[in-house]
Amino acid sequence: MLLRAIGLHLSSLSAFFALTNGIPSSLPFDKRAELDTWIANESPIALSGVLANLGPSGVKSYGASTGILLASPSKSNPDYFFTWTRDSALVFKTLVDQFINTGDTNLQLAINDYISAQAKLQTISNPSGSLSNGAGLAEPKYMPNSTAFTGDWGRPQRDGPALRATTLIAYGRWLLNNGYSSSATDIVWPIVKNDLEYVAQYWNQTGFDLWEEVNGSSFFTTAAQHRALVEGSAFAGSVGKSCSTCDSQAPQILCFLQRYWNGQYVVSNINTNTGRTGKDANFCLASIHTFDPDAGCDDATFQPCSPRMLASHKALTDSFRSVYGVNSGTGQGSAVAVGRYPEDVYFNGNPWYLTTLCAAEQLYSALYQINQVGSISITSTSLPFWQAIYPSAATGTFVSSISTFTSLTSALKSYADGFVAIVQKYTPSSGALAEQFDKSSGAPLSAVDLTWSYASFLTMATARNNAVSASWGAGSANNVPSICSTSSATGTYSAATNTNWPVFPCTTAASVLFAFNILATTSVGQNVFVVGSISELGSWDPSKAVQLRADLYTQSTPLWYGSVKLGAGTRFEYKYVRKEADGSVVWESDPNRVYTVPSSCRAGASVGDVWR
Ligand SMILES: *[C@@H]1O[C@H](CO)[C@@H](O)[C@H](O)[C@H]1NC(C)=O
Ligand SMILES: *[C@@H]1O[C@H](CO)[C@@H](O)[C@H](O)[C@H]1NC(C)=O
Ligand SMILES: *[C@@H]1O[C@H](CO)[C@@H](O)[C@H](O)[C@H]1NC(C)=O
Repeated sequence: MLLRAIGLHLSSLSAFFALTNGIPSSLPFDKRAELDTWIANESPIALSGVLANLGPSGVKSYGASTGILLASPSKSNPDYFFTWTRDSALVFKTLVDQFINTGDTNLQLAINDYISAQAKLQTISNPSGSLSNGAGLAEPKYMPNSTAFTGDWGRPQRDGPALRATTLIAYGRWLLNNGYSSSATDIVWPIVKNDLEYVAQYWNQTGFDLWEEVNGSSFFTTAAQHRALVEGSAFAGSVGKSCSTCDSQAPQILCFLQRYWNGQYVVSNINTNTGRTGKDANFCLASIHTFDPDAGCDDATFQPCSPRMLASHKALTDSFRSVYGVNSGTGQGSAVAVGRYPEDVYFNGNPWYLTTLCAAEQLYSALYQINQVGSISITSTSLPFWQAIYPSAATGTFVSSISTFTSLTSALKSYADGFVAIVQKYTPSSGALAEQFDKSSGAPLSAVDLTWSYASFLTMATARNNAVSASWGAGSANNVPSICSTSSATGTYSAATNTNWPVFPCTTAASVLFAFNILATTSVGQNVFVVGSISELGSWDPSKAVQLRADLYTQSTPLWYGSVKLGAGTRFEYKYVRKEADGSVVWESDPNRVYTVPSSCRAGASVGDVWR
């Protein structure tokens, strides 16, 4: 209370003092530098965390085929050792954006692998159906070896095809802009076309939401579908095709999208009866996924800075103030740990890293848009949000030349940083990001190394740096039809068979993160190591051998794994050894294993061995 009073007092002073208005809401100045440092340190950890879960050579992806991205290496409690269409598309959108921003050709090779894998997955018949009428495209998850998952599940999930189309289009645009138009036309477009036709045909049917629990209509799904058809139509045009079903259905999807707004916040699941308030991070993830840097604070497309989305942000974050112990004592305008929805009971209901990071990213994106627009319009809808972070806020339009604009944007930035600071606080020193953190103790919980958690960190950091990705055309696709109609356009589907990528110029990796995988059945007290002819592997000295990890060990896959950075082209011999509880060493039988580290543009490689 005291600090807030100081903030109020200073609000009438100069822009410099106005900056201190951030203090009451969340993050003091000295904390900001600390946060900058943490973000800089965590960024490479997050990127490695994503790549570790990508088959075939990721450090934690043993068993996944080429281009298949695991949701998490966790095989039990919970078992996330599958690839989800949604998670993979969202994560690869991040990698495509990183590739476009950095030119990292190791990422490009991963993207090509992913796209080739998706071409195959589209053709796999599964419990949702097959490609013949498109229905199989909405199957939520597949086995790591690219076969169908046939167990019970919440299916279909109709966001996957839309998200995948968006990711492939982002890469397709890069191909077009960089002289690879035949790859865009012959490899990318046929996959995208199936997904767009799927959306145009099925958007007006119920399905399961992104949390795989509710059968109904999900805001996230509808928003992603609208975006996909809008940019899909433009992309079709740029490869010399057309998408008439995109054009006929996109306005109707936008019309339906408005239905989720209840006048106060986005109700995330409709056409269902969940018995919940509808306050759900679903809307936040939709807002960052459909953020268009050129669209302004548009309510119709629910842009991050729109009054509707700021009001929804407040409704959601407030809903967690009293349900999580880690949030106890947080007042209005203070950042909180954010979960999926307040009624959540999964693992007893806890904050998630990716939803807390989303709360930050929405605000960074909002800040970007506000700066683009050059003014802030506070309406009766968004007033409570602004008053929470800047108590003297009032309705009106505040242009960038006046100090109120500076005060409001500083408060917004500090508030956003506050959410990242919470994630920082509950991230272990290793930088590993699980799925959730305990609502009382803050300890990491549920799936370890969740790929989407790492990607959400990367997109947050990108947004915080104002490094936005391309417009998807929201600014000219926000005309809501006056009458919404039930609608569908039947599509045609065919297997995308061309995955012959050209040889792209790329940078040869100087060193390679080399993953050792060995199936070795052991008992408690035994440990497995790798030892070899090079110094990195202890020069045949078992006391200097590299210890492998058993945290992914199961009875059916007794995996010991680890990784070592090795020079490209290095030839080495190696063996696995087992150390007994008493310290004695058991060597594998002869002969020595031999390997030469590839010298290529790929920064990762792996072996899969069996103890002998
Ligand atoms: C794929 O993996 C499943 C589960 O491990 C296994 O049952 C199946 O035989 C595998 N299929 C192929 C084609 O490798
Ligand atoms: C289909 O669209 C109509 C018109 O927007 C809407 O009233 C209805 O709820 C939609 N149903 C589903 C399942 O999307
Ligand atoms: C989902 O809901 C729709 C209609 O509300 C129903 O027809 C369909 O069978 C439901 N699907 C599942 C898997 O429960």
